[in-house]
Amino acid sequence: MTELDTVGDASVSYGLRINGRDRAVQAGWLGESLLYVLRERLGLPGAKNACEQGECGSCSVLLDDVLVCACCVLAADATDSDIRTVEGLGDGGRLTDVQRAFLDEGAVQCGFCTPGLVIAIHDLLDRRPDADESTVREAISGNLCRCTGYGRILAAVAAVQRERSGD
Ligand code: FES
Ligand code: FES
Repeated sequence: MTELDTVGDASVSYGLRINGRDRAVQAGWLGESLLYVLRERLGLPGAKNACEQGECGSCSVLLDDVLVCACCVLAADATDSDIRTVEGLGDGGRLTDVQRAFLDEGAVQCGFCTPGLVIAIHDLLDRRPDADESTVREAISGNLCRCTGYGRILAAVAAVQRERSGD
């Protein structure tokens, strides 16, 4: 269990392991969400802030390889976890196959939902490479997109599946 260093009477300092790097959070507040800490304290704006109540999936990250809404996780509760954000998916700044397929298939319009969907789809295809369309729809049902109607997103997932299977 990682120690939390209390500073004064209300703030805490602690460490988080994010995308394979140890990051320090200085003088935070115990009640801050992981989403807030990522964006506002650690300069990682990939996870987006829309509803802040677990409804839209725009803040999706992986916590110990489990997909979670970062807005619903207390950052100070994640000190013993491996956190992966969309910034940590690509290799050396290169796009992942899912990100490339989103671009190629026209699955990005305003882009606000895109990081959360990219994380959710990587998570799904890592666990279920051959997921059928209804499984894909179910897997991304927690990620709201107001622009695309989902058709191009499903096309992007199918393109990645074809590419990964060598078709
Ligand atoms: S901002 Fe976290 S689910 Fe909407
Ligand atoms: S592309 Fe705009 S919300 Fe999905």
